[in-house]
Amino acid sequence: MSQIVFDAVRHGYRTKGRAEMVALSDVNLTVEQGEFVSLLGPSGCGKSTLLYLLGGFVPLQSGRILMEGKPVTGPGPDRGVVFQNFALFPWKTVRQNIAYGLERQGLTAQARTERVQQFIDMVQLRGFEDSFPSQLSGGMRQRVAIARTLAVDPRVLLMDEPFGALDAQTREIMHEELLAIMRRTPMTTIFVTHDVREAVYLSDRVAVMSSRPGRIKEVVTIDLGPRTGPDIMKSAKFNEYVEYLWSQVKTDAVKAMQ
Ligand SMILES: Nc1ncnc2c1ncn2[C@@H]1O[C@H](COP(=O)(O)OP(=O)(O)O)[C@@H](O)[C@H]1O
Ligand SMILES: [Mg+2]
Repeated sequence: MSQIVFDAVRHGYRTKGRAEMVALSDVNLTVEQGEFVSLLGPSGCGKSTLLYLLGGFVPLQSGRILMEGKPVTGPGPDRGVVFQNFALFPWKTVRQNIAYGLERQGLTAQARTERVQQFIDMVQLRGFEDSFPSQLSGGMRQRVAIARTLAVDPRVLLMDEPFGALDAQTREIMHEELLAIMRRTPMTTIFVTHDVREAVYLSDRVAVMSSRPGRIKEVVTIDLGPRTGPDIMKSAKFNEYVEYLWSQVKTDAVKAMQ
């Protein structure tokens, strides 16, 4: 059984006084346990909508979405989400932000403290436990968001352009961090991005979406072996994948601008 199934998913947005805008039409995709799959496509093609349907934040209108065989009916701790805009509580410290999701899990205070520390260490924020988000860099904030999501031990990780707001250097560092986290705690991940290189660098498979109405037009398996470091980006094979995927995305990106 595939861990995640999208089956003939369609989604339209209705705004008062306007015709329905079809954001997704007939999306089919299956994701296996432990896979890292990117949803790649131009702005507005429905990537976030698809992720939030799986997250259970947007109610399903038509088709089926199954998580481990069961239809998704709302948000749940089995699906951890990392949002684009670092959804941290500004009035809570790093420690308190990470502890937040654990508060409803019925852990003893000591178990909670230990778990929070474990995840602070995992994202290498030791020494910043009592800092507030405003005192951290963008990369550090997104590491707190990742730690908070992973601390509740989700079955799958959903990430919506998590590094989109970071500068290029920080984004590269975050790619290595994320791969290191995945090596330590392998987890099924669906990663939304419009960045072709990022998709190739991180993914086992890349699902290319067409622009409105969003569909999955192709799924490309990325066969680059273990990611040993950024040097892989200099390889001919890496750049062939990038060129091919970019050619698949380009026509839709141009269409999306019109
Ligand atoms: N709440 C909403 N109401 C109306 N239209 C929306 C809403 N959310 C998204 N859309 C529209 O649906 C389309 C897909 O949006 P989205 O899923 O955010 O795409 P992406 O994440 O790929 O940029 C876009 O045209 C967007 O304007
Ligand atoms: Mg989006």
